[in-house]
Amino acid sequence: MESRIELLDSKARYGAISRLLHWAMALAFAWIYSSTGAHYLLADSALDKFLWPTHKQVGVLLMVLLLVRVLWSLLNRHRRPPSLNLAATLGHGMLYAAMFAIPFLGLLRQYGSGRAFSAFGLPLMSGFEGPKVQWMTELGNSFHSLLGWTLLVLIAGHVAALILHCVKGQGHVLRRMAGRTTSA
Ligand code: HEM
Ligand code: HEM
Repeated sequence: MESRIELLDSKARYGAISRLLHWAMALAFAWIYSSTGAHYLLADSALDKFLWPTHKQVGVLLMVLLLVRVLWSLLNRHRRPPSLNLAATLGHGMLYAAMFAIPFLGLLRQYGSGRAFSAFGLPLMSGFEGPKVQWMTELGNSFHSLLGWTLLVLIAGHVAALILHCVKGQGHVLRRMAGRTTSA
């Protein structure tokens, strides 16, 4: 019997594109948190010197992937697997809010600093002469790293909730994002 990969979401499971976006971003988050972890705990170590220069670039990549993911989830909104409960809806909502706010604040602070900024060789900000834009740099200074660490706690909660579902015999929740994507 012929089987084909399901690109779109369905009520039973997330399709290949949603999964690609979810797992690619999870990988990029693992990278960016390794960079912040090394910067925080092992400042000036070889690991810090290797990872920290990639922080802003990976942050920009995460912002771009998030925008694609939001667009894709809107296009699929009538055929996605239903939310398990209110806690899951709120939890996923908070993940999305933090995934947007953190790189946005990083970029806002970068712009406000007046320094030119490129990512992956693409010039994103040309910089400007004169004083910094105080409110932009202050917002970034106050909230970027605070929200960054908060998101790490939310991710731990997300994974813990999934483990709990699996322990309670609701392994289908994991399979919606990680099981097979082919249909007969
Ligand atoms: C989703 C993407 C991002 C996450 C999860 C994230 C997370 C974090 C965290 C947790 C810290 C604190 C590190 C510490 O305490 O030593 C931090 C610091 C920093 N981030 Fe990000 N970041 C992201 C994107 C960006 C972007 C796009 C930029 C700039 C273009 C940026 C620029 C910085 C800078 C300059 C610092 C050091 C100053 C500070 O501690 O606030 N980040 N980031
Ligand atoms: C080992 C790490 C991870 C595992 C095992 C995992 C697993 C899953 C599973 C099984 C689902 C489907 C839940 C359902 O159908 O109700 C899901 C959904 C979701 N996950 Fe994760 N996840 C991980 C990391 C992350 C990270 C790092 C983020 C973002 C910071 C994230 C954000 C989301 C969001 C927003 C959803 C809702 C579906 C969507 O809109 O894409 N996950 N995850």
